Amino acid sequence: MSSADIGILGLGVMGHNLALNLAGHGFSVVAFDPDEHARERARGDGLNAVASMAGLAGALRTGPRTVLLSVPAGEAVDAALGELSELLEAGDIVIDSGNSHFRDTERRTRDLARKDIRFAGIGVSGGAHGALHGPSIMAGAEASAFDHIAPMLNAIAADFKGEPCCAWMGPGGAGHYVKMVHNGIEYAIMQLIAETWLVLRDVHGLDPKAAARVFADWNKGHLASYLVEITAEVLAMTDRASDRPVVEIIADVAGHKGTGRWTSMATIEAGVAAPTIIAAVNARALSSATQARLAMNGSDRIVAAHGGGSGGDIDDLGKALLCAQVCAYAQGFMLLDSARRDHGWPFELERVAAIWRAGCIIRAWLLEPVMATARNGLGPAGLLATEPTRSMIAEALPGLRATVLAGIAHGVPMPAFTSVMSWVDGFRSANVGASLIQAQRDRFGSHGFERIDRPGQHHLDLKGC
Ligand code: 6PG
Repeated sequence: MSSADIGILGLGVMGHNLALNLAGHGFSVVAFDPDEHARERARGDGLNAVASMAGLAGALRTGPRTVLLSVPAGEAVDAALGELSELLEAGDIVIDSGNSHFRDTERRTRDLARKDIRFAGIGVSGGAHGALHGPSIMAGAEASAFDHIAPMLNAIAADFKGEPCCAWMGPGGAGHYVKMVHNGIEYAIMQLIAETWLVLRDVHGLDPKAAARVFADWNKGHLASYLVEITAEVLAMTDRASDRPVVEIIADVAGHKGTGRWTSMATIEAGVAAPTIIAAVNARALSSATQARLAMNGSDRIVAAHGGGSGGDIDDLGKALLCAQVCAYAQGFMLLDSARRDHGWPFELERVAAIWRAGCIIRAWLLEPVMATARNGLGPAGLLATEPTRSMIAEALPGLRATVLAGIAHGVPMPAFTSVMSWVDGFRSANVGASLIQAQRDRFGSHGFERIDRPGQHHLDLKGC
């Protein structure tokens, strides 16, 4: 019988949980995965899993039929679309819920439009738990397609004080772009938290359990967030096999699937300075350079003076983390602001902050002041110059500076914190050294420069050189 509201293609953890979430909200779901075990598991959880893609398409209610893909980003999406598009008809809707690159989403939108199939690229954040209990959803689709799928997306999205954390970002790749920036901010915040742990350990002499208590305490105040909360949890965990803190037995090499790298590249393409996002990606790359790290390990070791007066204090560190996190959001929002102008996307920054308040990985109390700032109107300096985030950053700056100085004095690698410090100092400085760079460019390449006192292009007077 062709009666299902939605088909789920791909029954990995995310697809399986999204299917259960939809079914739990009263939608009739049909699912397919080429892997028989995945189908069996789905049936075990009460889902209707059919044995072929044709079976999936045939079970869908028409007018239009809606299929949600939950397959790994990249070639798997193109392969699934190739097969699926043969089974669908004009007007049908295909949703890609993976972490696809926004340019791939734009290409797929154009390709499927040739068959009059409507393609929606939706960013879904919140991991496996979010997929089951309510993710944050950043939707990209033509408006008519979004209107059709919105009731389902709103129903399964996380709820923040009665508001669904789901919003339309615009057509084409808009949803996947916003999700990419979400992940760039996620990388920056994770790196800042990791560096905070190193300062607690190497400057203040705390063991993982003591550091866990500091994070748990911070999680009760302005730093309250999902990432700080789970940091407290994992720092407190003990490995059963070795009886050591888990953080000491996990190999010190950070993995990644590419969205942080994409965000970094997008900042460079857009000409937006977002050094903390790039620093976080670079830090993961450095962590993977295991041979080089082994060769250098211990050379010129700086002897730490644990707990001494030169280490700043833990209160400063908390302020530094707060300030740096606001700056990580600020960098991401500058990129979003530039992207919506460049691409003509209609999303509002306040709305983006609003749907990140629940369900997603970077959900945090901080998004409330970020929203308020966006509502007050972001000028060219974004969150840095508009209240209330302007004051939050200004008040926490001394703590950030003290922390960076203490960390550097103790030889703690802190690329994210130092990048935030220089980024803020850069915006605060009347002269950032660029006039000297212009002089050098003109000296060696006659590239020309603007003067502060006269219009037009000028050159150095090289007479006598
Ligand atoms: C989310 C996450 C998720 C991402 C993981 C892993 O919002 O739920 O961003 O989409 O896949 O965080 O990313 P990395 O492997 O690149 O760290």
